[in-house]
Amino acid sequence: MRIGILTGGGDVPGLNAAIRAAARRAFQYDWAVRAVQNGWAGLVEGNILPITSRQVSGILHVGGTILGASRTNPFKDKALVRSCLDNIEAFGLDGVVAIGGEDTLGVAAKMTELGAPVVGVPKTIDNDVAGTDYTIGFDTAVTTVAESLDRLHTTASAHHRAIVVEVMGRHAGWIAVIGGMAGGADYIFIPEVEASIKSVCEHVQRRWELGKRFSIIVVSEGAQIKELAYTDEELGNKDEFGHVRLDRRGLAETVAKEIERHTGFETRSVVLGHLQRGGSPTVFDRVLATRLGAYAIDLVKEGRFGYMAALRSNQIEAVPLSEAMAQLKTVDLELYKLAQMFF
Ligand code: F6P
Repeated sequence: MRIGILTGGGDVPGLNAAIRAAARRAFQYDWAVRAVQNGWAGLVEGNILPITSRQVSGILHVGGTILGASRTNPFKDKALVRSCLDNIEAFGLDGVVAIGGEDTLGVAAKMTELGAPVVGVPKTIDNDVAGTDYTIGFDTAVTTVAESLDRLHTTASAHHRAIVVEVMGRHAGWIAVIGGMAGGADYIFIPEVEASIKSVCEHVQRRWELGKRFSIIVVSEGAQIKELAYTDEELGNKDEFGHVRLDRRGLAETVAKEIERHTGFETRSVVLGHLQRGGSPTVFDRVLATRLGAYAIDLVKEGRFGYMAALRSNQIEAVPLSEAMAQLKTVDLELYKLAQMFF
């Protein structure tokens, strides 16, 4: 048997741990492993190289991905899909492990409908893939957010300022809610619940009157804020999956200016950006990636193509990709309400 492994979409800490585990399990079965370079682009172009056990050694703790990543969507053109299917054949791949988020796994689901032998492993710092309790990379990202909020608290408090912290999270506010709750945020804006500048200003004001002369406000890059509605057209270029670049929204800076304008309190902004995607994976992500990566190879062994390895109630299970791709996993509103108890 010969299997290919690819990583698509935004990188996350823990990808290398998943690649290492998948490869090691395959080597255990005496299978050959191929590195598909830069996500689906590697299958389109036939950029597929042998990978040895030595190459997956020493990478458990390293961020990024030794395979490279891209946001290539073969389904934007039938000829690209054809190239992928032809290259699976030409390179003799008996199975392809696609490690990705909603976009990459969405492609994986469609490929299996066309008969390609693909299985999935869910990763995204956004944690918005349905069918799994957690995706690889989320725990590391929220750890970074919580640590950053700890640092920002001390300086905000010393200077009696409000600080608006922008975190990633395009459609789902998991990073903001969990990172914000862990880091003691005083207000959290998420995409799932519309909030207003007016309400955050009232809150900052109330805290000031109670003698708390600083505030930390966390805002998801995709948050819905009444006074700051935008259209995708305003933000310009879209990627191959139709997503606009939300960093262009400059949300943290706009929210900070609005708070300062309405309350008169000095307000600064910080964008955590790709810091959330870098660095060494946490213990949780290393172990999750190891479990999911190895299981994906077992799915191939059993011929269960069209399935994704998933974490459910601390067990690793097979979930149909079609089921996982049917909707996004948005924030549990009970958790958001719990975070709001501290606003
Ligand atoms: O999909 C994960 C993610 O980190 C989103 O939270 C964010 O909107 C996007 O990637 C940023 O992507 P890029 O690094 O390609 O700009």
